[in-house]
Amino acid sequence: MLFLIGACKNIRPDEFSLEKQIIYCEQKANTTLSKIDGDTLCPRNVLSGENTWNFVDRYDWTSGFWPGMLWYMYELTGEDKWNLEARKYTGYLEPLAYGDPNDHDLGFQIFCSYGNGYRLTSDSVYKKVILSTAAKLAELYNPTVGTILSWPGMREKMGWPHNTIIDNMMNLELLFWASKNGGSKELYDIAVKHAEKTMENLVRDDFSTYHVAVFDTTDGRFIKGVTHQGYADESKWMRGQAWGIYGFTMSYRETGRNDFLEMAQKLADTFISLLPNDKIPYWDSEDPAIPNAPRDASAAAIAASALLELSTLLDAETGQEYRETAVDLISKLSTEKYLSGEDNPAFLLHSTGHKPNNSEVDASIIYADYYYLEALMRLKMMEAGS
Ligand code: GLY
Repeated sequence: MLFLIGACKNIRPDEFSLEKQIIYCEQKANTTLSKIDGDTLCPRNVLSGENTWNFVDRYDWTSGFWPGMLWYMYELTGEDKWNLEARKYTGYLEPLAYGDPNDHDLGFQIFCSYGNGYRLTSDSVYKKVILSTAAKLAELYNPTVGTILSWPGMREKMGWPHNTIIDNMMNLELLFWASKNGGSKELYDIAVKHAEKTMENLVRDDFSTYHVAVFDTTDGRFIKGVTHQGYADESKWMRGQAWGIYGFTMSYRETGRNDFLEMAQKLADTFISLLPNDKIPYWDSEDPAIPNAPRDASAAAIAASALLELSTLLDAETGQEYRETAVDLISKLSTEKYLSGEDNPAFLLHSTGHKPNNSEVDASIIYADYYYLEALMRLKMMEAGS
């Protein structure tokens, strides 16, 4: 979601054109629209070496990113066409707000779609959907542990009685928003408690992050930190680190709590320290196959967007380093190596979804495109405010 107040002067490298990249995204989104058969499918990935989207239905965790991108296209262009398309794909997700809470991804699904939609249209139906979803998400909160259960399905499958993943920080935005827009105060308290417990248990001493924390449901005790999508339990899965930067930056924006801001900075510093020379992270910075390991453009895009916001929340000098890194990430993603070329309808190449499962390795993935577009928009807004 897009909330920015800061301004900056143009700090782009010469070879990078923000305007050109926005037009590029518009052209690619138009191509994708022409390839979707009906309005009940959401593009998820284009696998390595292929040029066609694989689609998912509303229940997939990534279903909110396509409607979210359409809202950003509407915001960027002001054209009714994008509003109509965004409404269509957003409306398709409505049943998620009224069913049983499947898992924590409700936040991604509904806030990227309905959240952006409400921000731009003030449609009261959208507000109702968001408030209902927030109440559903809160049903996954365990007060003994103090966090939201991320994956109910993993309790039995993995023997993780209560599990919380670093990605879950992203879903707190839905709760913060709902508590300030007609939902209960409890939603705010749950989000704050979840962020506190995440700081305590998912962040290691060197400010890298576990992917998953496992807790005991009877006494709330932290049992262990493990990985699901990273290389090893103690390794540094870079998308998780990016979710953490974004989540704590947003939590500071919503609460004004300095410990959340400091956490965002420390996670950002660790992320930056792990970047290779050309800036786009390997999927896990401890994969022994480096330099031949796959990259993760999605981690770069998420971090770029988060660092832009972080830079606006700090004093000018401290913010500048984060802003420069963000612009560096965006401009590296905007080079031939990472752009998808003529035939692939996605924006970006070289993301890695789930390497241990050999799934979506070195692929185009919809959330990389979503956060890339968000980062372009944030940069545009910051420069316009200068
Ligand atoms: N939230 C799941 C992922 O980052 O792959």
